[in-house]
Amino acid sequence: MRYTTLGKGGPRVSVVGLGFWQAGSRLWGSRDGSLRRRVGEALESASSHGINFLDTAEVYGGGLSEEVLGDAVRALGREGFVVASKVAGYRATGGSIIRGVEGVNRRLGFKVDLIQLHWPPPHPWPLCWSIRGLEEAVLRGLAGYYGLSNFPRDLLEEALQCSRRVEPVSNQIQYSLAFRAPEVDLIPYMRERGLALIAWSPLAKGALAGVRKASTAAQRGDSVFRVVSADEELQKVLEDVAVRSGASKAQVALAWLIFKGAIPIPGFRDPRRVEEYARAADLVLSEGDIRLLDEVSAKYVHMWGGWHRGFKVMRFVPGLVQRLVLTAIGGL
Ligand SMILES: NC(=O)c1ccc[n+]([C@@H]2O[C@H](COP(=O)([O-])OP(=O)(O)OC[C@H]3O[C@@H](n4cnc5c(N)ncnc54)[C@H](OP(=O)(O)O)[C@@H]3O)[C@@H](O)[C@H]2O)c1
Repeated sequence: MRYTTLGKGGPRVSVVGLGFWQAGSRLWGSRDGSLRRRVGEALESASSHGINFLDTAEVYGGGLSEEVLGDAVRALGREGFVVASKVAGYRATGGSIIRGVEGVNRRLGFKVDLIQLHWPPPHPWPLCWSIRGLEEAVLRGLAGYYGLSNFPRDLLEEALQCSRRVEPVSNQIQYSLAFRAPEVDLIPYMRERGLALIAWSPLAKGALAGVRKASTAAQRGDSVFRVVSADEELQKVLEDVAVRSGASKAQVALAWLIFKGAIPIPGFRDPRRVEEYARAADLVLSEGDIRLLDEVSAKYVHMWGGWHRGFKVMRFVPGLVQRLVLTAIGGL
């Protein structure tokens, strides 16, 4: 496994992490009696293959993902992992963010290493209030570092102007061969400011691993999954590169992201995927194959428009409404 530093002086993490949205989410149909066993097996595999970076959130399974992950991490040894979680974007004031991070730590059973703001706060709350709350969480020792998530360029610039005492180390955004919109203006800016890029949906919910038919609500509700699972041209190039490299399609998609300097956090329900994901860090794609992958996915730079700004729409949904809806449906 290879390791990298998050942002300027953040924690050392494996170049491939793991996403734990699938751990207990109804949208993934994975809230069953085998959940704890599967997460435990996944962490054992992560540990033996060098993956130390784990991502969850307070809204995943209404907190269940954090609880199950926290138990499994403590069972294997807390010091072996860098655990990231997220407080919901409706937490728009410093007090609410602090209470959110306290809840995260209670469910995990230890202090979170990286706390991220899951999406930008709703209007009319000043963005600086959220940044102050995140800084305060770090200064009070409730979290090791803080990061942002789903921040488009303009809001990221504003957030960095707000930060006075502690700088964020990362921005977690949707980025993959199937979704390259951040390349237009966000990624160059993040690079300039020394922020790590944590890539969510690195496999387009399985479409880049070769899954052709949606079998979960999470996949059915995702237009990127729908388009890319039916993209014969991209699937063919992925297959050809995979065969040439002696790898799987998922490993090719992850290796492409690592080559671009992103840290993918692929999700899973089947713990056997963890070894496959870890081995993607050893896969070196040839220049020619990178070019082929770039060319066949070039349409996804602009196809989704400013879709990565989609979370900006959430800014116009009042925080109370966001909170009530998420609580009523038991989280994501
Ligand atoms: N910040 C945010 O707003 C945000 C948003 C979304 C996600 N995330 C984070 O990013 C993580 C990953 O993103 P994602 O959940 O969108 O999913 P993803 O990583 O793009 O795709 C994961 C899915 O791909 C499937 N898969 C992989 N290899 C496969 C194969 N060979 N055959 C069949 N299926 C295969 C897995 O199936 P199985 O389930 O069958 O193992 C898994 O559920 C999440 O867990 C979460 O931590 C963050």
